[in-house]
Amino acid sequence: MKKLNVAILGFGTVGSGTFNILMNNADIITERTGAEIRIMKIFSRSLKEGIPEKIYTDDINSVLSDDSIDCVVEAIGGINPATEYMIRAMDSGKHVVSANKAAIAESWEALNEAAKRNNVSFLYEAAVGGGIPVLTAIRGQLSGNRFTEVMGIVNGTSNFILTKMSEEGMSYAEALKTAQELGFAESDPTADVEGIDAANKLTILMALLFGEYIHPMSIPRCGMVHITEDDIKRAVEKGEKIKLIARAYYKGEELKCSVKPEGVPISHPLAGVSNEFNAVYITGDAVGETMLYGRGAGALPTGSAVVGDIISLVR
Ligand code: HSE
Repeated sequence: MKKLNVAILGFGTVGSGTFNILMNNADIITERTGAEIRIMKIFSRSLKEGIPEKIYTDDINSVLSDDSIDCVVEAIGGINPATEYMIRAMDSGKHVVSANKAAIAESWEALNEAAKRNNVSFLYEAAVGGGIPVLTAIRGQLSGNRFTEVMGIVNGTSNFILTKMSEEGMSYAEALKTAQELGFAESDPTADVEGIDAANKLTILMALLFGEYIHPMSIPRCGMVHITEDDIKRAVEKGEKIKLIARAYYKGEELKCSVKPEGVPISHPLAGVSNEFNAVYITGDAVGETMLYGRGAGALPTGSAVVGDIISLVR
């Protein structure tokens, strides 16, 4: 039987979700792929609950220098040392699967070049839209299109807060605390509520849809942190819902982009996207308008995308 040996770096929301799916669904994954996916090592700064002791390590070199490991799942988050570990893993001939939108958006060219020069795969479906296979769709089934516009709700935490404030009368602080408890928010939730996380995801979407790399800090951005209950009420009176929208489109030859709260007419499919759900609404010259929708944050949805990338490596 084919085998793929995997190491997981980090055991927070994404690392533990990935581990649990690989363990709990091992039988159907093997049945569908004809391969056994073996978790050889889990790297973490401390031995966290749920990590089997015999595969635990706090020594990154023992992972990166282990020739038996075919694929490294980077679930540490943050830009460094995650970027360094991913590049070192690829330079050691290992495929890399990552959910790390911040690192990928920051070092898009360096990471893709590392994959190319080492002839390995660098896959990151989990970095945009959590469990939604949006990048796979853009790179695969939709790739015969010239894309003209993308609009996305791509941050689960801010969408969760806006939903709870508008539909359940929850305060901003209470909704944020709940999002943190549910594992949706970043370790520093400023990235969520200030639109930084959405900008990172928009950078990745624009690179794939339009072939243009725009650094996340160059994207005009306004978070949803200043939205008040009154703003939400006024939007409802106008027949709109306030959503944090990541948008890019061509105006003539120029690619325009932004991340900001927008009043979305309730008749628009994005207005119905609630809680931690995400949706990416893409316009292509052939397909027209299409929307991909699903859970954008959380251990299992994000782990589902990571495991999907591991399975595509096997295939
Ligand atoms: N903090 C992110 C979010 C996690 O809320 O969408 C998923 O990328």
